[in-house]
Amino acid sequence: MSTILLVGGAGYVGSVLTEELLARGYAVRILDRLYYGENGLQKVRDRVDLIKGDMRTAGIEVLDGVDAVVNVGGLSNDPTAEYNPQANHEMNTVATRKLAQLCKQAGVRRYVFASTCSIYDRGVGTDHKDVLQDEAADVNPRAAYSSSKRQAELHLLSMADENFCPVILRKGTIFGFSPRMRYDLVVNTFVKTAMSGGALSLHYGGEMWRPLVDVRDAARAYIACIDADEDLVRGEIFNVCFQNLRISELALRVQAALRPLGINVQIRPDYGYKGVRSYRVSAKKIERALGVHPVVTIEESVAEMVRKIKAYGYTDFDNPRYYNIQWMRLLEEAHEVIRVTGSVFEAQEAAAPVLV
Ligand SMILES: NC(=O)c1ccc[n+]([C@@H]2O[C@H](COP(=O)([O-])OP(=O)(O)OC[C@H]3O[C@@H](n4cnc5c(N)ncnc54)[C@H](O)[C@@H]3O)[C@@H](O)[C@H]2O)c1
Repeated sequence: MSTILLVGGAGYVGSVLTEELLARGYAVRILDRLYYGENGLQKVRDRVDLIKGDMRTAGIEVLDGVDAVVNVGGLSNDPTAEYNPQANHEMNTVATRKLAQLCKQAGVRRYVFASTCSIYDRGVGTDHKDVLQDEAADVNPRAAYSSSKRQAELHLLSMADENFCPVILRKGTIFGFSPRMRYDLVVNTFVKTAMSGGALSLHYGGEMWRPLVDVRDAARAYIACIDADEDLVRGEIFNVCFQNLRISELALRVQAALRPLGINVQIRPDYGYKGVRSYRVSAKKIERALGVHPVVTIEESVAEMVRKIKAYGYTDFDNPRYYNIQWMRLLEEAHEVIRVTGSVFEAQEAAAPVLV
């Protein structure tokens, strides 16, 4: 049985990928800081080997008995990367490279890395840049998040050789239910807004393009990269996308998908907001090379999301845990307070008064 080390395996993508790997008979070891807790692993906890640790400081022993590494760890969106660009660089770029170096030392040949289609961001308002981007397109990302991913890609690609097989997956924006749920991804945001009685707000009128893919399809793309012959994937970049949609059309489709479920939602364009990403991609390469063909539609995913959000009780929509930047800010603030006060409810030992 092959053993996969899943870095960030307790996250939104990682939890679903863990389930898919287990279903295919892989053994799964997870290395995760557990920023968002262990909830994502609740159904599989007794079937995975979980190491609570930091990808930046992991030693070679995490690779004992491991056949392949999938790295879905680190900071996973623009706001968290901008909140702490230094930590973002350390996790997304430096630790990604360090893990690859450890793989080379340990003789682990396959390393699949979670990159992002936001590397292709062309912005809005420039029609000549508004074309399908494939993996050969020029990229020059400037945001902290996307440039940290691009730097990591370049490191990994330069390390490819006959003994080491790095593979880059540039995923579009993911949607769908995960037992570690995120409501800060556009489709999921629309669904939770509708379920909580709000209206769908379209920044910049929703004119921007976004490549989209369901989380189960994304997980299957990772597994295809693990299973493929080395020659097909060594040093390759693959876009992963089901469909490119303008956000305005996406909103209409989510609205229509929710109606039969008894959820009626209004759409409100907001033309005031300008800082938006826009890009659309071709996913032909991974289809041709590996036969990866995402199948889950927005409508199917939305229906399943509503059902599972209720079944899992993830209806506490204001809980900051579902929004990466809110949660990171909260953890930082709590850390500061607890550093001074100590544990909130435990009695403190009597001590001489200290001026703080
Ligand atoms: N979700 C998307 O739409 C999307 C799109 C494109 C690319 N990606 C990439 O896919 C990957 C997974 O995304 P996600 O949505 O599952 O994000 P997530 O934030 O839900 O999961 C990230 C996981 O990594 C862990 N982690 C973070 N820093 C760590 C560290 N220093 N050491 C060990 N563990 C650490 C977290 O605890 C969390 O469990 C990320 O690399 C992200 O950049 C995501």
